[in-house]
Formats: sequence, C-alpha cells, structure tokens
Amino acid sequence: MTNEQALAPGKLYIAGEYAVVDGCAAIVAAVNRYVKVTVDDDNLLIRDSHGKTYNSCDFNKNESEKNNLKKLDLPTFYGKITSESKNYKPLYWKRGIFGREFILDEKDAEDITMSAKDSTDACDLPAEKSPATSDEQNQDSQIKKLKKIYSYVFSAMQIVDDFARETKEVKNVLLDEGNTAINLYNLQIESDLDDKKTGKKYGLGSSAAVTVAAVRALCKWYGLTLTTPELCKLAIIASSLVKKSGSGGDVAASAYGGWVMYRAYNREWLEAEIEMIESGDSSLHKLLIKKWPRFEVKRLKVGAGLRLLVGWTGNPASSAELVGSVKAGVKAGDLTAHNPSKTSAKTYSKTYEDFCVQSEKCVQKIANALENGRIDALLSGFARNRALLKDLGEITGTLIETPKLTRLIEVANGAGLPSKTSGAGGGDCGIAIARAEDFDAVFARIEEEWQNSGIEALNLKVAEFDESGDLSLIEQRKDDHIKLACEQYDAHADAGFEHVRFIPNALPQLALSDVDTSVSVFDESTKWDTPLYINAMTGGSKKGENINESLARVAAKTGLAMASGSLSAALKNPRLAETFSVIRRFNPQGFVMANVSAGASAEQAIKAVEILQANALQIHLNAAQELVMSEGDRDFSAWLNNIETIVSALDSMKVPVVVKETGCGMSAHDVLRLKNVGVRAVDVGGRGGTNFVAIENARRGRKSDYEFLDSWGLTTVESLLDIAQCDEILCEPRDSSDSCNSARMQVFASGGVRTPLDVVRSLRLGASAVGVAGEFLHTLINEGEDALVEQIESWKAQIRVIMALLGCKNIEDLRENSRILIDDKPCVI
Ligand code: FNR
Repeated sequence: MTNEQALAPGKLYIAGEYAVVDGCAAIVAAVNRYVKVTVDDDNLLIRDSHGKTYNSCDFNKNESEKNNLKKLDLPTFYGKITSESKNYKPLYWKRGIFGREFILDEKDAEDITMSAKDSTDACDLPAEKSPATSDEQNQDSQIKKLKKIYSYVFSAMQIVDDFARETKEVKNVLLDEGNTAINLYNLQIESDLDDKKTGKKYGLGSSAAVTVAAVRALCKWYGLTLTTPELCKLAIIASSLVKKSGSGGDVAASAYGGWVMYRAYNREWLEAEIEMIESGDSSLHKLLIKKWPRFEVKRLKVGAGLRLLVGWTGNPASSAELVGSVKAGVKAGDLTAHNPSKTSAKTYSKTYEDFCVQSEKCVQKIANALENGRIDALLSGFARNRALLKDLGEITGTLIETPKLTRLIEVANGAGLPSKTSGAGGGDCGIAIARAEDFDAVFARIEEEWQNSGIEALNLKVAEFDESGDLSLIEQRKDDHIKLACEQYDAHADAGFEHVRFIPNALPQLALSDVDTSVSVFDESTKWDTPLYINAMTGGSKKGENINESLARVAAKTGLAMASGSLSAALKNPRLAETFSVIRRFNPQGFVMANVSAGASAEQAIKAVEILQANALQIHLNAAQELVMSEGDRDFSAWLNNIETIVSALDSMKVPVVVKETGCGMSAHDVLRLKNVGVRAVDVGGRGGTNFVAIENARRGRKSDYEFLDSWGLTTVESLLDIAQCDEILCEPRDSSDSCNSARMQVFASGGVRTPLDVVRSLRLGASAVGVAGEFLHTLINEGEDALVEQIESWKAQIRVIMALLGCKNIEDLRENSRILIDDKPCVI
C-alpha cells in the first residue's frame, strides 16, 4: 500500500510575454499557491464479470481474504481520478489488456464514471450495468468533457508510466503485461490556485501546476528519483502533448520555484523527438539527457529585499486565445480595421521580429534589476515592456491591456512602483514590485485604491524552493501536520484524565463570583487571567499563516496566551518569517511565545523571539517524531547543551524559556536534568492528544515500519504524577545556599486536554497553566474563528464553575485543598 504526495506552485509572468512563444527570454515567478496531487493504491474499485463491485481494501487484511480476491470471476480493477473542485467529477480508469493503455471511455468505465456522480464511496456503486439509454450520446460527450478536464493529469500519467517502463531496476515497474490489476492507483487533485469559496479563477497556471505535481507524485510512487531539470522536461513533454502552442514557461516556474528566467524549447524539434520515441527509435531517458536546442531555465537570485504585489482585475482571460489572436494578426498583416494605413504581412512580420528583439533586451534588463534589487531600473524596464506589449496589442488588434489593467498599473506607478500586465493580459492579473521594507505601507494604500476600482489585491508571494529542488518540502510538511492532526483528532483520546476523579465538595461555602482563576507565570510578575493557553501549532506555509492569523485574533479576543509553531522554517528561510509574525500583527498586546527546536542555536532562538517580539520562548523536544519522519533529524546529542546555552542567552534578555514535549510526555528524571542546566519551566506535552508519531507514520505513507511507536511515551497525567512525586523538582529555595537550585520549577500541562475538567485536573496535579492545541485546531478548522472564541469563553466560565463546585477560591486553594482519586484510590499529592 503506497501513498505519495507532491506539490507544485502556480505562476505569474513577470516579463517577456508573447515573445517567449518564439524563443525569446521571459521571467516567470512561482507563487505560493499550490496544486497538490496524492497518489495511492489503498481503495481500488474492483468489479467482477457480474457487475458486482468491491473495494480492494476488503481483500488486504489477511491471507484468506487475498485468496477470496483470487476467486472473483474475471475481476476488473479501476483507479479513480478525483478533484476537490465541484466542477470536476471523478473519473475511473483501468489498464488495457497489455497493461499499457489507459482506458477511460470503455463502456464499463463509462457506467462507473456516470454512476460516481451520486456516490462518494466506490463500493456503493450499482452492481448492475445500467442498460444503454437514449442518453448515450450525452454520456459520450460527458466522458469527452471529463477527459479534456483531466487531460494534463492523464498525459502526466501516460508519460510517467512510459518513463517507469523504461527503468528496469525500478520497483513496481509495469512489466507484468497482461496483469491489469497491478500499478493501478487513485489520483487526487487539490488546488488552492483559485478561490475555492467563490470559484474565482486567478489565472495562476493550474494546467502547468497540475502537470508538474502529477509527474512529481507519480515518479515518487514508482520510486523514480528526478532532478529538477528532469522533472521540468518530463512535465513539459506531458504538457506539450496536450497543448502544442504553449511555451513551457509556466511548467518551468512550477517545477523550479522561485524566480525563473526561461527560454522556450524548439517545438518542432521536440515533436520530432517524441515521434522517435513513439516509433521505438529513442526513449524518454535519452530525451531527458539530451541538450534541448534553445531551451534554457535559470533561477534568478532575487533577494528578500523585493516583494511582488499582485492585483486581479476579475476577468479570466484565455492565454491560448490571446496568443492565437496576436499570431493571427502578425500572419495576416491585414489590420486595416485597427490601422488605416494598410501594411503588408511582410511589414508586420518585420515589426513582430523587432518586438521580439526589443522584448529580449528588456527582459535581460529586468532580470538584472531584479537580481540587484534596483527599483529604478525595474521602473524603466517594466515601462518599456508595457509599451512593447501595448504596441503589439495595437498592431495585432488584440486587447492585451484592458482599462482595468491600465488602472491597476497607474495606481501602482502612482505609488512609485514598477508595474505591468502579467501574462497574456486581456484581464486576469497585473503585477507590481515593491521594496520589502515599504511593502506593508504601500500594500495598504494600493489595496484600497485597487479595491475602489474593482481590482482585488491578492495575498501572494514568490514561492520558495529549497536547494535540493524539492520545492516547499517544509511548507508541505506543515500543511500535512495540520491536515493529519485534524483527521486523527479523537475527542475521546486517552491522556489519562479519566483516571483522575475529584472527590466532590457538597458544601462549597463560597459564591461563584469569589473564584479567581488567575495565575502567576514565570517571574510572578506575569499574570494570566485564565490558566490556559493556545499551544504551539503552526507557521511556515500559507495555510499555517492563515491559521496563525485566526489564532492570533482569537487569542487577542479571549486574552489567552498563545505560542507559535516551530520557527525553524523561518530561520532557514527568512521569507517565511511572515507566516509567524502575523501572530504579533493580529495580537499586538497579547502574551506570545515563540517556538524553536532543541537543535537551535542561541542566535536562532534570539532571532525567533525577535520575529514574534515574543514574551517567552518554547523549546520543543520531539525525538520520536524526528526519528519516524523520513526527512527528520537523527542526532540529538547536543540538545541539552543547546538548551543550556539558549536559557543563559535569553536569561540575560529577561525572556523566560519553557522546554516542552510535543506529545510523548516528560518524566521527573527529564525535568530534573533540565532543571540542572538552568531551565525553570517545562510543558509536559503528554501522550493522549495530538500524536506526532502517528502523524509521521501516516506521512510515511506505505505501511510504516514505526506503527509500533504510536503509543510511545507517558500520558499527560502520568507525566504530571511522576513530576509531582519528585520533591527535588518542586522544592523552593529557602536561602541562597540551598541546594534546591535558585528558583522553583514551573510545570505546564498539555497533551490531550479536551475539556475544562481536564484543565482543572491538570491544575490539581501541579500544572501552573494548561496548553491546548489539537482541540482548538479542530474547532477552528471545522467551525471557524467565532466558534473557537465561543468555546474558549465557555471553558473560562466552566473552569470557574468547577472550582466553585470544589469550594476552591483560587488555583493555590485548588492544589492544596481539593481531594482526588486516581483509579479510584485516594491520591496524596
Ligand atoms: C503541534 N505541536 C507543536 N509543538 C511544538 O512545540 N512545535 C510545533 O511546531 C508544533 N506543531 C504542531 C502542529 C500541529 C498541527 C499540532 C496540532 C500540534 C504540538 C502541540 O504544541 C502540543 O504539544 C501537542 O499537540 C499536544 O497537545 P494537544 O494537541 O493534544 O492539545
């Protein structure tokens, strides 16, 4: 059972549009909206010759079920292609008799495809074939439509299949001809290139992104390793088979990420090469190794000093149609309608040649300006490119710069920014470039003016890549964590709280209004009104940024302290800093904790605090997660030393440090070791809630070798009890000579806290305050920000109610005077 995922970003043209089609240079930037493709073979549809359907997962459990599969009468296996977009219905596919051809429109597949619109579960499909109806023609055209919609995916499937077949040593290769059951998979497409809620299409190059993501995911699925240039070429081949006229610039940006200088391949040459492969005289492998005439992709080194601004004018444009219109105009040379002085086709072609020469010069100038961060040179370069495109539009009778795009450019120019249309024009997006330090101020101003003219400012940035070419690995991981934490959320997970029961107090002898839930944390001078905080979760991706923004607003409204997710991504890549600093932006007055790994240096820890202007720092311990994560760390030998150095550096800045686990808990022994290197606060981060071992096991995809670690660690309650029984941890110094080591250790509790009663139980077991991650994330994602505010406000009130029930006026009173049973036995701590 295998499950692989890959991301590819959308793109925007920065310069050199139209001329790129004829081999001139262009600049294209990948933007931080992505298409994600998931390939899995877990739940294939099987149909026997009687039309009865099964799910392949029903035959995977044990040997006897596998034998049952063998007994099926002529079973046919189907993979399913799905997209989350409402407009894209699922499409079923199967292999032909020789395992090579993909069959979509055979009658069986057709019935299944059509039935699928009413069903999300393949096993629910009708067992019997629908009789042929008078709607048959209708169905034919539906199939054609679906094939067209999925044409890029389908082409990627075919190309990677051929590529895998050429690779003898590859595991899983499709050599078992005649066996149509093997190497079938389901392929799922998710995209955030367009606005999911409103259906607005921003023209960010979804065909290219879907092709790149599909090639990348399928290569992973076959166990094929591709370099970025190979991925780019393979995706260009797949895409050229669907659309002959494209330049491939969008594919290159999607494959390489970042800012890309691109020169198109020679189309006729590539067509001839593909023909040679089809006739058996060459191979995809040979074609990838060859130098492609004229073809050039180069990453531009554009520093963090420049930021892209993007406005959407609201009219989706068809690049293919616009390019076609310009080409037709150039060929015909008969543009009397637009140009009264009749000119011959020859003159137009000369004019077009000149346009290409000028465009090339202009693009080189813009590339230089981008790499050197020169706004002045960008102003003249963009203005020149804009003028060239305007002329081209006029001479060919094509509306490239619409009145709205003109307005977009004028507003940006008015703010001193270089600006132009992006891509084929005719609507869609315009771009501007700003200095990073001016970005916030300029964006606010331009956004308003654009809005007044009906132009939407898009919150886009140039998408990152890492040097391995595995684009946005970090961003993908962050998104996986959020997705899997939500999927694995279990309202009844066992963090040990059910073992802790309060002995009721029938005579509370106080009023609800007497209860004070405030706690002093860290240095006694810091007071939180409620002993509750939003624990570390995210940052480092677009989705993470949005969640951080929401959580920050929630924290500001409810007065709760909050922690960011690990800032490692931002420390590696400064452009991701904003996905964290958004917390401070939306919660300027709140108590905010930054979060770094125990492998961080003191400088990195200080930087993390600075990015968030944080009040405290969390250092996370996650050895189990790292070891299960395929790309995780393997060396933890310096952790305790690092922690000591960080604590000492932050001590001099008066920034308190909390060392926290992330779901495997902490023993008293661990806490003592931390205390001995100067740590004064820990968060036990116990087992029973969000489970990062299980999350990483799910990310590993195939049946993970580490499932046995899913229940690794101490629960939150076990951790608290172990710590509570260790006098050395909790003792307070009597005087300066006391061996009890300067100050008292503060213990925070987190891990599997699902109710206000769990909060009070944790406080009773010694916690100074209680952190919640998974439960709050679950509410936020499923019910939204307002619901989370409501939940937190209810918890705050309910914590007071429970304390009143116990007759406890404050947290100290609760700790000292309430009585508990653990597993029905009186507990003395
Ligand atoms: C986390 N957690 C976490 N912790 C940390 O120290 N740094 C991090 O970057 C993250 N990232 C993260 C992402 C997501 C999506 C979740 C849900 C959680 C762990 C978190 O702070 C907490 O310790 C555990 O989740 C256990 O608490 P819950 O979720 O059971 O309340």
